[in-house]
Amino acid sequence: MPNLNIVILAAGKGTRMHSDLAKVLHEIGGQSILGHVLACAKALKPSKIIVVYGYGGEAVKAQFANEPIVWVNQAEQLGTGHAVQQALPHLEKNATTLILLGDVPLVASSDCQKLIDLATDKLAILSFNKTDPSGYGRIVRDGNGQVNAIVEHKDASEQQRKIIEVNTGMMAMPNNKLVQWLAQLSNNNAQGEYYLTDIVAFAVQQGVAVVAEITADEWSVTGINAKTDLAQIERIYQQRYAQRLLQQGVTLKDSARIDIRGELVCGRDVQIDVNCLFEGKVQLGDKVKIAPNCVIKNANIAAGTQIAAFSHIDDTQIGQNARIGPFARLRPGTTLADDTHVGNFVELKNAQVDSASKINHLSYVGDATVGKHVNVGAGTITCNYDGANKFRTVIEDDVFIGSDTQLVAPVTLGKGATIAAGSTITKDAPAGQLTFCRAKDQKSIAAWKRPLKVKK
Ligand code: UD1
Ligand code: CA
Repeated sequence: MPNLNIVILAAGKGTRMHSDLAKVLHEIGGQSILGHVLACAKALKPSKIIVVYGYGGEAVKAQFANEPIVWVNQAEQLGTGHAVQQALPHLEKNATTLILLGDVPLVASSDCQKLIDLATDKLAILSFNKTDPSGYGRIVRDGNGQVNAIVEHKDASEQQRKIIEVNTGMMAMPNNKLVQWLAQLSNNNAQGEYYLTDIVAFAVQQGVAVVAEITADEWSVTGINAKTDLAQIERIYQQRYAQRLLQQGVTLKDSARIDIRGELVCGRDVQIDVNCLFEGKVQLGDKVKIAPNCVIKNANIAAGTQIAAFSHIDDTQIGQNARIGPFARLRPGTTLADDTHVGNFVELKNAQVDSASKINHLSYVGDATVGKHVNVGAGTITCNYDGANKFRTVIEDDVFIGSDTQLVAPVTLGKGATIAAGSTITKDAPAGQLTFCRAKDQKSIAAWKRPLKVKK
């Protein structure tokens, strides 16, 4: 096979998005629209990817700075043909070029591969039968069904406007032909634009075969022009992701109420209840159960662990058979080993908790190392911040911390230490001993009366 060059057209202004953000940087499933197109392009193993950019281009380039992209500026948007002309200096001799649109995020690599395979000696176009073809370029076929031309809506006759087979904008062709055809383009048409679609008629004149592959999947060729399109494609993307998970054996209580903005990898017999959001890369081991309304980002949750409702987990590793939530907040840098329990209204940040330890109620544990079989009582707070610097708390194995305790870091609780409830611990607690630090005397005032409300 010849080398493959891919040209992604992305210079359009995206006026109808009504946004300061470049159109192709809006996201579907947590990835920019252009990011999706690029992922499809890369899967086809091209020797070159050329992106034609225009409006808002600097922000677009910045976001893809680490990608192997040749950027070509189309300062004025004079049409799709003009856009491809800008890429001409970068096209390789004897290669095949595939044209993709930067605003069609669900583009299917299988369709692209079909076009590429045909394009060794043909002009291959991806078309679609659209119920309402208004606005699109029409595929004009002759009596034998051979493609003769693409006529843009504004240039089409009444008769041609009845054609429902439309150009998706994606096509592939041999570079030696493309170079000749681009040189022949003119803007003598209803819009005064250089139409890439005019190359079809040139091919026919030269006797080069033109094939239109009809796709049945409208969403895979739908471009995003407005926020309404963005919302609609987002739902389609999510539905399709959910279907793939179901096919792999994941139980989704409601496949319409899950959102994946990144990648979700699941083991066997994973159960996910309604309204969960997964972001970044999330891995769920076998038999993991996620209750409703959880937000889980960049996390690795090992087999048998259960996450109760309304938990918020970010950049956290959790071992096997742990119990988390409800209403737990696990912040970046947290690792929880096997059989750990984290209960309601507990916040952990950059805390490394070893196996079978429990932090079950209303606590903040930050910048802490917690050993095995530790029990952190309700309302325990690690005071890790003095307003300027952060300090660590070390809690060794088998420590028991009574409720309502403040651990003023840096501080270490030795192995097997017990901390009495209500203590403010500012010095290291020795191993195996009871340590407490409370107001000394408990007093009772027999004559005490509760204040009464003053009548006005
Ligand atoms: C184009 C096709 C039309 C097809 C339709 C599918 C032409 C002449 N017409 O229509 O047959 O049915 O796509 O959506 O090709 N772009 C540039 N630079 C430009 C103009 C466009 O980069 O100067 C990019 C846009 O960013 C977009 C793509 O090309 O990604 C298509 O442009 P758009 O204006 O949406 O399509 P039309 O030209 O109306
Ligand atoms: Ca247009």
